[in-house]
Amino acid sequence: MSSTIWYLETRSPEHVRPKERPDAEAVVRQSRIPVPELNRFCYITVGSDWQWTDRLAWSDAEWREFATDGNVETWLLHVSGTPAGYCEMDGRIPGEVEIASFGLFPAFRRRRLGGWFLGECLSEAWRFSARGEGRPRTERVWLHTCSEDDPHAMSNYQARGMRWYRTETTELCRAARERTPLGSRPRFAAPTDYRRLR
Ligand SMILES: CC(C)(COP(=O)(O)OP(=O)(O)OC[C@H]1O[C@@H](n2cnc3c(N)ncnc32)[C@H](O)[C@@H]1OP(=O)(O)O)[C@@H](O)C(=O)NCCC(=O)NCCS
Repeated sequence: MSSTIWYLETRSPEHVRPKERPDAEAVVRQSRIPVPELNRFCYITVGSDWQWTDRLAWSDAEWREFATDGNVETWLLHVSGTPAGYCEMDGRIPGEVEIASFGLFPAFRRRRLGGWFLGECLSEAWRFSARGEGRPRTERVWLHTCSEDDPHAMSNYQARGMRWYRTETTELCRAARERTPLGSRPRFAAPTDYRRLR
């Protein structure tokens, strides 16, 4: 089985199409104190439904190196104070910001939060250079998604103004899946409906 990888980008902040906030309790904040365990938790919690396996093999040192890099930012979506999703912005290549990870925790999907959260993150990614001394001007914001991701992911990226510019077919995702058994990941059978808990 092959996997398709789509690359998308924006070349100007003016191309970002934000959305109205769907929930007055939703806020987006940068997590300004790096906590590698938080990145790992988010990766597993978001990605366990979508075959995110590449980083399951990362050592503690690799997580620490990534999360504490001065040109990597972690942003969180909170709903009623509860973490509900995350976005990693990787600016280690000068002039570029890669949305390295993006997604909602299972209980918060299909609530119209993802479209709004993405619009906020893309706008913040375009402000990346303004947040750090010596950071070069951002020329593009990009990401890739693959056929194993949420079926709404691609349309969400395009709806927020990202342009699809390259496609690749690879066996990589499958190979990674086979390396790391799904059973080793902590996950719940079904997400809790957070609206009932408020
Ligand atoms: C993908 C994800 C971010 C979407 O968030 P969401 O809150 O479920 O989606 P929303 O209701 O906000 O809708 C956002 C966009 O998704 C698309 N979408 C939503 N429902 C859709 C449907 N039934 N059919 C097709 N596209 C749909 C639309 O483009 C929509 O934007 P629009 O309303 O401006 O047209 C979220 O479900 C998620 O985090 N999934 C798991 C992680 C993941 O796959 N992340 C992406 C990895 S690259």
